[in-house]
Amino acid sequence: MIVALIGAGHIAAALVQGWRRPAVTEPPSLIVFDVVGERAERLAAAGGGRAATSAAEAVVAADLTVLAVRPEDVEGVLADLGAAFSGPIVSVAAGVNVARLVAALPAGAGVCRVMPNVAAAMGLGVFLFVRGTLSAEQAEVVVRLFASAGTVFALEEERFDAATAVAGCMPGMLASLVTYFAAAAEAHGIEPAAARLLAVEGVHGAAATIAASGDPASVTAAAATPGGMTAAAVASLEADGVAGAVQRAVTAAADRAKELT
Ligand SMILES: NC(=O)c1ccc[n+]([C@@H]2O[C@H](COP(=O)([O-])OP(=O)(O)OC[C@H]3O[C@@H](n4cnc5c(N)ncnc54)[C@H](OP(=O)(O)O)[C@@H]3O)[C@@H](O)[C@H]2O)c1
Repeated sequence: MIVALIGAGHIAAALVQGWRRPAVTEPPSLIVFDVVGERAERLAAAGGGRAATSAAEAVVAADLTVLAVRPEDVEGVLADLGAAFSGPIVSVAAGVNVARLVAALPAGAGVCRVMPNVAAAMGLGVFLFVRGTLSAEQAEVVVRLFASAGTVFALEEERFDAATAVAGCMPGMLASLVTYFAAAAEAHGIEPAAARLLAVEGVHGAAATIAASGDPASVTAAAATPGGMTAAAVASLEADGVAGAVQRAVTAAADRAKELT
C-alpha cells in the first residue's frame, strides 16, 4: 500500500518508525510532503520512501493519505488538494471533527479521524478511530495500517475527546508523573541520574505488568500487601486526592479539545 504523509513532524515520525519495524511484514510505501522540504526528505529517507514537492503530488500517487499537520493547517491543506485524490483521507489532527473535514473536502470523499500517540513508534500505539465517511472497505484498510503499529479502538465521535484525553495524552501525563517520582527519589538522597533511571525503569516494568494483567486494580491489590510499603504509598496517594487530580487532568485535556474544535 502507498501512503501519503502530509506533514513530517513529531507524530508522522512516530508513525513511520512504527510502520518500519522489522515485525511489520507489509510496511507501507511512503510519499512524504512537508512545507519544510528538508523535513520531508529526512522522514522519507527514514521510512524508505520518497519526498514529494507538493501535497497534491503525494496524494495523487497514494492509496491512502494521512494528514499530520497541526489542527490550524488542516483546512488549508485540504483546500490546496482540491480533488487531487481518490483514496481515503485520515486526519490525525486533534480537535478537527468529521463535520469540519467533510466541509473542507469535495462531496463524497472518504475521510476519518485517527488519534495516535507517540508509542506508535514502538508498535505500542493506541489509535482511536472514528470511521467518518469511509466505506467499510476503506475502514478495513485504515484499521489494518494502524493496527500494524499498535491497537485500534473504534468509537463514536462523541467519546473521542475523552478517549483522547486518556489514551492520546497518556505518554505525556505519565512522563510528567515519572519526573515527580525521580524528584522524590532525589529528595531522599539518590543522585539525579540514578533517580531518573529508577523511575524510568520502574514505570517500564510496571506498565508491562499492568498491560499483561489487563486489570490495574488487581495489580494494585497484589502489590499492596496489607501493612506494607506499597499499601502505605497508595493510601497516601488516595488521601492526597490523586483520583480527583487525574479526573481533573482528563477533563482539562477534553475541554482543550473542545476549544480547538
Ligand atoms: N505530537 C503528538 O504526540 C500528537 C499526537 C496525536 C495527534 N497529533 C496531531 O498530529 C498533528 C501534527 O502534530 P505534530 O506534533 O506532529 O506537529 P509538528 O511536529 O508541528 O508537525 C507538523 C508539520 O507539518 C508541517 N506543515 C505545516 N503546514 C503544512 C502544509 N500546508 N503542508 C505540509 N506540511 C505542513 C509543519 O511545518 P512548520 O513547522 O514549518 O509549520 C510541521 O513540519 C496535529 O494536528 C496534532 O493534533 C499529534
